Amino acid sequence: MPNGSINSPFRYAGGKFYARKLILSHIHPHSCYIEPFAGGGSIFFAKKKAPENILNDLDEELMNVYRVIRDEPEELIKFLEGKPAKKELHNYYKNEFKPSNYLERAGRWYFLNRISFSGIMNMQNCYWGYGDKFSMRPENWPNNVLRASKKLQGVNLSCDDFEKIIDNAPDGAFLFVDPPYFNADQDKFYSCIFTKEDHYRLNDTLYRNKERLIFLLTYDNIKELIDIYHWVTEIHEKEWNYCINRTDDQKNGLKRKGERYKGRELFILNYRSNNLQKRLI
Ligand SMILES: C[S@@+](CC[C@H](N)C(=O)[O-])C[C@H]1O[C@@H](n2cnc3c(N)ncnc32)[C@H](O)[C@@H]1O
Repeated sequence: MPNGSINSPFRYAGGKFYARKLILSHIHPHSCYIEPFAGGGSIFFAKKKAPENILNDLDEELMNVYRVIRDEPEELIKFLEGKPAKKELHNYYKNEFKPSNYLERAGRWYFLNRISFSGIMNMQNCYWGYGDKFSMRPENWPNNVLRASKKLQGVNLSCDDFEKIIDNAPDGAFLFVDPPYFNADQDKFYSCIFTKEDHYRLNDTLYRNKERLIFLLTYDNIKELIDIYHWVTEIHEKEWNYCINRTDDQKNGLKRKGERYKGRELFILNYRSNNLQKRLI
């Protein structure tokens, strides 16, 4: 992995942690890097920092935590101090605790995120899911926050709809675009609903900026998407392995601890990637 590579400070549903090396090897050289759908930012945290960086997500609570990690990491650490990863506390912070300011909102979100199943933060599906053997232990949270804070220094954080971010991106910027999956089921993961119209709106937005911006878009492997992105330069069908390490009481959990799975997605690019020589950027 490149210098300065760290893991996302969050657990994040749909995060690209397991695909990060594959994605990094396809990234076009750039001086301005933008993620319009930042989520856990696993690619931003894995890659070498560009001179200019923008992380955006429509989820206000998520972007509030990013801001606190960037600007007031010590305050967040203070909030988390001495809080054990316990199911009762998960219930308390999820159902009873009423944050009185942005710091408490960030503390509640971070705490629930680190101990919820797969980091699903949509409150209807935010279930307890912590295990000492496979989750980051609370004593390591302060370092996790400080490491991320260092990398986030100077990064522009915003909370807008993707269309505004893409239309306003500076000429020549590189965008890593990782929207919610096309498959409607994925709605249960996120706080912001992404409709079929939004998927088509993303296609229109990228199309009208295609001569100005460089993008790598990742999506579930669906024929309809291959059809609507007929205008791009390259579409690759990619596969990678991942393993679920957890034992928790997620309702309707389908996956079992230690099992191996395959990620199968499309990489959709408006540039040629074969001369990138598989560099890790
Ligand atoms: C697949 S996740 C991104 C995962 C991320 N690449 C990672 O590695 O963790 C998609 C993200 O899109 C965000 N989102 C949903 N609708 C949006 C919109 N209209 N504009 C911007 N972000 C949106 C969700 O909040 C979610 O965090």
